[in-house]
Amino acid sequence: QQLTSESLYAINHFAQKFFSQQLLETDEGRNIALSYLKERGFREDIIHKFQIGYNPEARDTLTKALLANQFNREILPKTGLVALRNNDELVDNYRNRIIFPIHGNTGKIIGFGARVIGKSDRGPKYINTPENEIYVKSRILYGAYQARMAIDKADECLLVEGYTDVVSLHQAGIENVVASGGTSLTTDQIRLIKKYTSNLTIIYDGDNAGVKAALRGLDMALEEGLNVRLVLIPDNEDPDSYVNKVGVSAFNEFVAKSKKDFILFQLEVMLKEAGNDVSRKSAVVNQIAETLSKINKAEDFTRQQDYIRQCAGLLRIDEAGLTNLVNKYKRDKI
Ligand code: GTP
Ligand code: MN
Ligand code: MN
Ligand code: MN
Ligand code: MN
Repeated sequence: QQLTSESLYAINHFAQKFFSQQLLETDEGRNIALSYLKERGFREDIIHKFQIGYNPEARDTLTKALLANQFNREILPKTGLVALRNNDELVDNYRNRIIFPIHGNTGKIIGFGARVIGKSDRGPKYINTPENEIYVKSRILYGAYQARMAIDKADECLLVEGYTDVVSLHQAGIENVVASGGTSLTTDQIRLIKKYTSNLTIIYDGDNAGVKAALRGLDMALEEGLNVRLVLIPDNEDPDSYVNKVGVSAFNEFVAKSKKDFILFQLEVMLKEAGNDVSRKSAVVNQIAETLSKINKAEDFTRQQDYIRQCAGLLRIDEAGLTNLVNKYKRDKI
């Protein structure tokens, strides 16, 4: 186990150097991949900072380099960098893709995200490292290693969906940002954030999938004692495309003015859906009471009271009644 982990780290370290060199120092890398990144607006300093690279088109450029450097053949497929074909042949798995290394807590590379260049007509847009001894998907927050000091300083963590969102926001000077990789947050990820700050701001695209993914993480985040706020990026944009479209200062203004409290946001969405239907509205009351009951840390008592007041107002129901319901949910849990 220990031996395997060390080998995986060593292979990833070697591969990252290889990918950077391919991106920056070969004609193929520069003409195909670096030009693509530059067209998208990424500068070389940020490419260096995130150690972004390129895996060439040919079938086994990386594989050959790994074998020439005596890395253990048996272990290579575990990294996801190399695939086994026809039982005995090893080939590169991320051919003709931009490579985003993913760093663990100590800065060592635990895996990679590999993006097709341009549109993904065939195959997936991104391929990620498969689960192995050092790459545990549910614990990964892309960018956490680069962001940790900025998160600490701002006492706030911004959460976006994708690799390119993290990189673009860093380039725009917004460095307290991490990505969940397009899935909803896990408890492990929330605990990782909680080590640095209690303030989480989710910045997702405003489409349904984005909002749903964000909402799924809410109860868990509340139970862990996070204050959650939400910024919805306008239709068909994500933080990366939006900051490129409107510029850094307009982006910052947008974020500042559209930051919403997540619980109140959730309530607004549910109320809108319920309309004038009495039984649906009463379901909303129950749902929000259950959510509020999750704020159960002693030090959050005033916060919970505050929410009860605001939610009762929005629901046009009696504050004491909502308090009772919240307490009922709290008791039921115990
Ligand atoms: P760009 O298109 O390069 O700007 O990337 P993006 O991050 O905007 O992509 P998108 O919004 O489609 O997806 C958000 C995140 O979900 C990505 O950064 C990936 O982490 C993940 N993701 C997207 N597509 C795939 C896929 O095909 N396979 C896997 N495994 N993950 C994906
Ligand atoms: Mn998307
Ligand atoms: Mn989306
Ligand atoms: Mn996106
Ligand atoms: Mn994007």
